[in-house]
Amino acid sequence: TLPGKVRARMRGTIGELPVRTALTQTIVVPTFNERDNITTLLDRLAAALPADRTEIVFVDDSTDDTPEVIRAAARHCPIPVTVHHREDGIGGLGGAVVEGMRLARGEWVVVMDADLQHPPEVVPDLIRAGARDGADLVVGSRYAGGGTRDGLAGGYRRLVSGGSTAVTKLIFRNSLSRVSDPMSGLFAIRTSSLEVDELRPLGYKILLELVVRNRPGRIVEVPYAFQPRHAGESKSSLAEGIRFVKHLGLLRFGAQRSRMLLFGLIGLSGLLPNQAALWALHELAGVHYLPAAVLANMLAVGWNFALTDTLLYRSRRSHRSFWGRFSRFFLLGNADLLLRIPLLALLVGGLHLGVLGANLVTLVISFVARFLISDKVIYRT
Ligand code: GDD
Ligand code: MN
Repeated sequence: TLPGKVRARMRGTIGELPVRTALTQTIVVPTFNERDNITTLLDRLAAALPADRTEIVFVDDSTDDTPEVIRAAARHCPIPVTVHHREDGIGGLGGAVVEGMRLARGEWVVVMDADLQHPPEVVPDLIRAGARDGADLVVGSRYAGGGTRDGLAGGYRRLVSGGSTAVTKLIFRNSLSRVSDPMSGLFAIRTSSLEVDELRPLGYKILLELVVRNRPGRIVEVPYAFQPRHAGESKSSLAEGIRFVKHLGLLRFGAQRSRMLLFGLIGLSGLLPNQAALWALHELAGVHYLPAAVLANMLAVGWNFALTDTLLYRSRRSHRSFWGRFSRFFLLGNADLLLRIPLLALLVGGLHLGVLGANLVTLVISFVARFLISDKVIYRT
């Protein structure tokens, strides 16, 4: 038999006028080193879907020969297949999916994993449900009635998956009121309700990104049984988990407020070395409390710098040398004493506030001031 692409083209040329058959669905598959899953995936997709109304787009970030394996397998697949290999891998899985969405020409974009944890036979169900209910988004769900997640290996992964789903549903209660499985990697979106330029994908949770930022109108769910991986191993890792927390922060609070939140948490954590050093210097070593407090403050500023520089502004470090960053941060952290001491004197002596309450006020004022100076001056891009 002829390859699908050729057959589709022949069928499209009736008489002299080319008749364009509209594609019903584009299947977008992100791949990272999935060579041993490709043949089975394509075989099962070809058995489940009409070749003349379907295209498959792989977006690949592999370091192995997965793209070549796909190209070889595509020659035996009746459905037209394209592979887009990326060298930068920006945005990880989510970035790859968005890239695929840009290339898709179908009326629906179906997103699914390559490892057969998402049964290809469910894809027609997604499209049918979407058409029947006039939906913009159809979510393949492990939690809706009839769905299962038996393929999630191990109690630990189930716990993490269940816990993060519950927290995510709580944070985005409004957007996710009709989505039981916001972490799903299997879904179909109507191309007309897709606004690709609004998406800022970061890691695995591309469906969450899509629901929160694109706000599709009607959402329905199709239950399915999540399968064990066919071959190879999962690419999710602790780093992916940290990326997910960052993604949640960005989606919920926006970039600058997320940074302020983390800056605040780091600042708060500085109380620990501060108190400990004050206690050790003053109580154990018998140093006078004033110089002890100044030294303790310096230590806490060093601690804050280490965390801020590695956790919060890692990607902005190249704008200034280490000593340039450290000296400014250190000066700012201690200049804080110059602001706080007179302010404290004013609040307590002038306005007769209690010492503890006044101290808290000075800490909050100095925190906001230090964040703004760090964010706008020291780490300005
Ligand atoms: N292009 C690209 N780039 N693809 C990637 C990347 C990447 O950086 N990382 C992973 N992938 C591909 C894998 O090759 C696979 O096809 C798919 O994305 C899912 O990756 P897995 O490593 O198998 O993820 P998982 O099984 O732990 O998690 C999946 O299932 C969960 C439950 O539905 C993902 O779909 C999760 O988003 C989902 O929550
Ligand atoms: Mn998987």
